[in-house]
Amino acid sequence: MGQASRPGCAILASIMMTDTATRDTTRDMTGRFYVTTPIYYVNGAPHIGHAYTSIAADIVARFNRLSGKDVFFLTGTDEHGQKVEQAAQAAGEAPQAFTDRISADFRSVADAMNISYDDFIRTTDPRHKAGAQALWEKVAANGDIYLGAYEGWYALRDEAFYSEDEITTRPDGTKVAPTGAPVEWMQEPSYFFKLSAYQDRLLELYETHPEFIGPAGSRNEIVSFVKQGLRDLSVSRTSFRWGVPVPGDSDHVMYVWFDALANYLTALGYPDQNAPRMAFWPANLHMVGKDIARFHAVYWPAFLMAAGIDVPARIFSNGWWTVEGEKMSKSVGNVIDPRDLVAEFGLDPVRFFLIREVPFGGDSDLSRRSLINRMNVELANDLGNLGQRTLSLIARNCGGALPAQGARTAEDNHLLAQASLLPDIMTQQISRVALTEALEEVWKLIRACNAYIDHQAPWALKKTDPERMAAVLRVLADALRIIATVLQPYMPGSMDRMLTQLGVEPGERHFAALDTPLPAGRALPKPEGIFPRFVEPEAETAK
Ligand code: MSP
Repeated sequence: MGQASRPGCAILASIMMTDTATRDTTRDMTGRFYVTTPIYYVNGAPHIGHAYTSIAADIVARFNRLSGKDVFFLTGTDEHGQKVEQAAQAAGEAPQAFTDRISADFRSVADAMNISYDDFIRTTDPRHKAGAQALWEKVAANGDIYLGAYEGWYALRDEAFYSEDEITTRPDGTKVAPTGAPVEWMQEPSYFFKLSAYQDRLLELYETHPEFIGPAGSRNEIVSFVKQGLRDLSVSRTSFRWGVPVPGDSDHVMYVWFDALANYLTALGYPDQNAPRMAFWPANLHMVGKDIARFHAVYWPAFLMAAGIDVPARIFSNGWWTVEGEKMSKSVGNVIDPRDLVAEFGLDPVRFFLIREVPFGGDSDLSRRSLINRMNVELANDLGNLGQRTLSLIARNCGGALPAQGARTAEDNHLLAQASLLPDIMTQQISRVALTEALEEVWKLIRACNAYIDHQAPWALKKTDPERMAAVLRVLADALRIIATVLQPYMPGSMDRMLTQLGVEPGERHFAALDTPLPAGRALPKPEGIFPRFVEPEAETAK
């Protein structure tokens, strides 16, 4: 970080920010970044498990935007298949009306969770259907699709085929897949994709691009699944109608996963190679739940190879949430709508908790006690108090204006050096999708700032050495600016408020702006607490 008293630099930076040509060059230098969430099945209501993957992908998207990348962030809904058709029937609605309603609900959850998506694709969109058919035709033209008859086990819940050796029989006689989903014997004419022909190329991809699948556990599972041998995949159905018609044979609709995976391309304008968004392909990152890693890391690259299209750079799978130790299920009645959590605890504490609770990639449990504990300890005490103490001391003792930088002690330099390293350290971590580790790195700095303020005791310096008091508060304001800047992807709304209170203008909130110190004397608004302590309602009334 530079010196506070370099107004010339601030002016130069603001000129550069308004110069479009300069901004575009920066973009070209740093590149494009395409990140996706899975598209969600509309057979049931959105829940916290769905919101989780979207929040994680949103953090990656926002972080890359702050780094200066040109980001395209896609989410949407997966609306075809037998499972959705049956859910519509059960609801007594026509499939299209049903999917319109549930898709809108998923979109409202995405908006409620402040997911900064650039597009929301629906597989019932005409643009998607046409693109999925074009992809099919390309694969077929390559000779990788043939007509046959499928006979085997199918789990409707997973919309997945299973081989005989994956099936177990429960004591009551029901046959289930390894996921616990009941399976049915299916027998019908079907088009097949020559997946078996891609085994070697897939293994070569995993070998030469070890980063293609993460985390390591997922990677190992996928590699051993493919090494066991791949059988051709049934990619069409004739026993129901709710799907994308197979080009040239309207008795068949596409297997829902062929249709669904194509969304990552159709949203970019595929097959129109001149569509401006096609420049975002290949995707940098598909974020997926661990249950759907296989579809993304095996089927998807094989379809793409067959169509002569580049494969994505990375598939990263996240773990699953239980609620108070139990699997979420309608019958248990513990399915959590993320909007209810937000209504009770606030959006950013929920976003924070979901990513903070367990190293990203692992399974986790949503417990009310743990959420409240993190809100009160990490947000209210650690970060909230640090901001409040610093800003209220500036408001009271520095005339409500940002103090100038004073002579720095070794302790000041040490803290600021730790702070200035943060964006680069986090950039490395976010590129590995180590979202929790990156957050821990910020908390190391927050704890260091709290130790610094206690040790420097600026409140006591007010009488003894007001100049030193101002210098200490400026060090803290500078460190807080970095903290709030890098935390924006995780808690966008709260960090907007914190940056406003720190006097950081909207155009100064990206990473490159951190090189330019804020001018001394900038008037700061009246400080207001950002993370109130959460008090259980019954504890409140018992007082
Ligand atoms: N439609 C497919 C994805 C197609 S992507 C081309 C699908 N949809 S889903 O709605 O069933 O699941 C979407 C995502 O939600 C998956 O990543 C899944 O892992 C995630 N989750 C569903 N329940 C979950 C939890 N309980 N916990 C964490 N994530 C969970 O699969």
